[in-house]
Amino acid sequence: MGRFFKSSIGRKFAMALSAFFLMFFLLQHFLINITSIFPDNGKTFNKLSYFMGTNPAVQYVLQPILLFGVIYHFVMGFILEIQNRKARQVKYAKNNDGANSTWMSRNMIISGTVILAFMLFHFNDFWVPEIVDKFIEGNPQKSKDYLHHVKVMFKNPIRVVVYVIAFVFLALHLLHGFNSAFQSVGANNKYTKGLKSFSKIYSIGIPLGFIIIALFHFFNQH
Ligand code: HEM
Repeated sequence: MGRFFKSSIGRKFAMALSAFFLMFFLLQHFLINITSIFPDNGKTFNKLSYFMGTNPAVQYVLQPILLFGVIYHFVMGFILEIQNRKARQVKYAKNNDGANSTWMSRNMIISGTVILAFMLFHFNDFWVPEIVDKFIEGNPQKSKDYLHHVKVMFKNPIRVVVYVIAFVFLALHLLHGFNSAFQSVGANNKYTKGLKSFSKIYSIGIPLGFIIIALFHFFNQH
């Protein structure tokens, strides 16, 4: 088993598993965040966010797993990229990459790095203030009005532009990554066509939904 995960195929498989896990996280994150545009003054959004932010199972079990998943996915992505580059240099003296792969498939490392940079920025915007309220000031009630914080964040046009650009990169990363992950776990069968349509809908739909949330809060205050 250990040898499998050290092999190139094993690493791709593990990479795909971490990708599925992150895609599941992204879906639930989106489903909670979309409630911030409901016309109920943040009642649903604040309730769900407060639950996610204070429930011990979410905080002490799911969040550490999520953090590990994110770090694992990025570190493994870099390792696979280095391996691929080495393999390409050895095998093909004259390599015409453009002939057999799309621009995005060759640049997953670039879109991945943009998403990583976005996450650090995003943690600083949303996660750090919550952690400070909860664990440094010892006052979890302080960050109960999540909608207010979201509105404050998306009042700034520069932040909105940065977020929207990051969401476009997220879509590009997912468009190639989702199919690639299905391939790595061997889902190359009669369902492939259906899976491809599903991954396209997900990869465009979720980032577009995030863009709508950011723009909604921006234009609602200007
Ligand atoms: C309009 C878009 C977004 C909004 C309004 C938003 C909002 C939030 C909020 C309020 C939190 C902290 C509250 C909590 O603990 O649940 C949070 C945390 C987080 N967000 Fe986002 N987010 C957005 C997009 C994204 C995207 C696209 C990603 C990933 C690529 C992402 C990844 C994370 C992660 C990893 C955390 C920390 C884990 C967690 O607390 O659940 N977010 N976000």
